[in-house]
Amino acid sequence: MPEADTKEEKNFYLDIPVKNEAFFLKGSNSYDWGMKNRLARIFNASNSGKTVMLAFDHGYFQGPTTGLERPDVTILPLMPYADALMLTRGVLRTTIPPSANKSVVMRASGGPSILKELSNEHIACSIDDAVRMNVCAVAVQVFVGGEYETQSVTNMTHLVDAGMRVGMPVLGVTAVGKELTRDARYIRLATRMIAELGAAFVKTYFIPEFETVTAACPVPIVIAGGKKLPEREALQMARDAIQQGAAGVDMGRNIFQSAAPVAMIKAVRKVVHENWSVAQAFEFFESEKRGK
Ligand code: R5P
Repeated sequence: MPEADTKEEKNFYLDIPVKNEAFFLKGSNSYDWGMKNRLARIFNASNSGKTVMLAFDHGYFQGPTTGLERPDVTILPLMPYADALMLTRGVLRTTIPPSANKSVVMRASGGPSILKELSNEHIACSIDDAVRMNVCAVAVQVFVGGEYETQSVTNMTHLVDAGMRVGMPVLGVTAVGKELTRDARYIRLATRMIAELGAAFVKTYFIPEFETVTAACPVPIVIAGGKKLPEREALQMARDAIQQGAAGVDMGRNIFQSAAPVAMIKAVRKVVHENWSVAQAFEFFESEKRGK
């Protein structure tokens, strides 16, 4: 027990209004403290309020994808430059040092491999395990319009309910089946549905008219990188997405399959956090690559 405070003179700073700031992230102001704290560890509040997430969860249905044959070799050097890692609990436990103190978004749906119907997913990780792993969010794929749409929506809503009990945000990931067109009409539908059903943030593809997607979605959107593009084009996509209202990127192959992955993730950060032009960021990428 500390000794009793007997000093009579106190300062209550009566001329200073008590701070009561709104939370910085779109659509997140009504959450409880723990949920907000987790989101603030993904979206870099002390930087731009946006995020550069590094996605390397592809193995959960693709096995050892090119560039991810040995994540301990290829991903660990990139880790310092990511605001958050998007991965599976298997790679988290086996490969990521707990001492790295890195924000994690953990994939929590899965099931079929590339040899089967991909959309037939179930919840693949409990909220208890997500809490045990001290992650900042769990991610679940939602196949709007797909054969297993209702099942994937239910996967998400169950995780949202479980997450609400413990302060764990859910990232809803739009997954487009082969038969569906990735256009603005579809992506607006999918992202809005996912937000309305309770996801704290949404991951989707960058498409033409993207500003209408971000305008119609009441929670933050991060874009998936997609297939490997030439570096300048990938930086252009990131820049266009941010300019059109994205809250960040969740990029995988365009970083870890780059000829210079560290240079690429550093260049992506310049675009996302420092509003650099594509020309500036690409020049920076080239000079970092040469300096390697
Ligand atoms: C999504 O289902 C995948 O698991 C990846 O997280 C996502 O596609 C992002 O990675 P990439 O930028 O390589 O598309």
